[in-house]
Amino acid sequence: MRTVARPTALKVGVVGKGGVGKTTIAGLLARAWSERGRTVVAVDTDSNPNLGLSLGLSLAETEAVPVLPRSVVVGRGGGLAAADLVEQYGRPTPAGPTLISAIRVAEAGAGCTCGGHATVRSLLADALADVDLTLVDMEAGLEHLSRSGGTLAHADLLLVVCEPTRKSVLTAARTAALAAELGIPQVLAVGNKARTPEDEEYLRGALAEEGLAVAGVLPYEEQVAQADRAGTTGALTPSPAVRTALDDVLDAVDAADPAGLG
Ligand SMILES: Nc1ncnc2c1ncn2[C@@H]1O[C@H](COP(=O)(O)OP(=O)(O)OP(=O)(O)O)[C@@H](O)[C@H]1O
Ligand SMILES: [Mg+2]
Repeated sequence: MRTVARPTALKVGVVGKGGVGKTTIAGLLARAWSERGRTVVAVDTDSNPNLGLSLGLSLAETEAVPVLPRSVVVGRGGGLAAADLVEQYGRPTPAGPTLISAIRVAEAGAGCTCGGHATVRSLLADALADVDLTLVDMEAGLEHLSRSGGTLAHADLLLVVCEPTRKSVLTAARTAALAAELGIPQVLAVGNKARTPEDEEYLRGALAEEGLAVAGVLPYEEQVAQADRAGTTGALTPSPAVRTALDDVLDAVDAADPAGLG
């Protein structure tokens, strides 16, 4: 493993159509990166947050993670550095990564979540010197790429998760186009829930047709679905097939990172 210190954290957004497996994959990847000895900050931007469950926290512990203040300007021009924000609001998880809860809608009629997205945008714009990777689990849809300035405008890389369905592949293609407009340097696709070799073939073929490189394809696995129902995704031991796919994704991200993660 190289020991060169990174000047700033690599910033990766996990995006894709609703229900494709963004949170599951963000949790598994964040844990796997930690297991490779990297320092990881995992940011939950879902207004109904549950990334904590995928990182081994209980529901009560997930709900107790303090939410980032809205519309904070981090770094130059603001009073707070990204490192201070992580120090104040980050919480350790059994899986290894530090969890940040960026947005939570706790009551009806409380207004839009734009202020929370602005804080995340600002957090990603600043440097986190002691962190190797900042991984942001996004809410479904494209709004985070279209809203003023783009929540992920300062991401280095997007991982767009896809199921073997035409609609999720089309969402991935639209995501890649918006990412290019925002100037996000790289987009890689991650296939998920492939039940058969034909599913994987479809995903690889359809994504290639859209000009998207595939970092890895995870199989559909009953143990993943069951762990979700039991609330134990954070303690899941990935099967060899899932492990291989996760390693493929980690290696693809390492290869895509010009500064080198390790
Ligand atoms: N590889 C897999 N095999 C089996 N089930 C999976 C797999 N990946 C995800 N799932 C299941 O799919 C469901 C949706 O997963 P998840 O919540 O991670 O999706 P999401 O994209 O984050 O959803 P949302 O758009 O609501 O944020 C969950 O029940 C999860 O357990
Ligand atoms: Mg999710």
